[in-house]
Amino acid sequence: MPLTAQEQAGKHLYTVRCAHCHEYNDQGLKKVPPDLHNVFRGAQLPSGAPATDEQVRREVLSGRGMMPPFAGRFSDEEMAALLAYLHTGLR
Ligand code: HEC
Repeated sequence: MPLTAQEQAGKHLYTVRCAHCHEYNDQGLKKVPPDLHNVFRGAQLPSGAPATDEQVRREVLSGRGMMPPFAGRFSDEEMAALLAYLHTGLR
């Protein structure tokens, strides 16, 4: 099934804002950013926190460990698109 327009928009945001760490760890972080392909497949995120939209939204906005906060970087619409794309398993 092709991605919806919203998922496409989320894919673009993921590609430009998240992939450099989560796919390539281009900053060589000691805590390697986790693979997000299956992030919504189970009940828990890699940290053990619940795998819910609310939790991921909060972590992206507030940051977590070596992940910087993105507060103010995404509109509500963009955040919704990003979450929709994460739910596709990063197709
Ligand atoms: C500078 C590198 C970096 C960038 C950019 C980044 N992350 Fe992360 N991310 C991390 C690291 C490191 C962790 C592991 C944090 C921890 O548990 O200490 C992480 C963890 C996560 C987690 C798992 C949280 C958990 O509770 O296990 C999610 C979901 C996530 N990132 C989503 C994103 C999204 C979406 C973006 C783009 C908007 C993004 N990240 C951008 C480095 C990054």
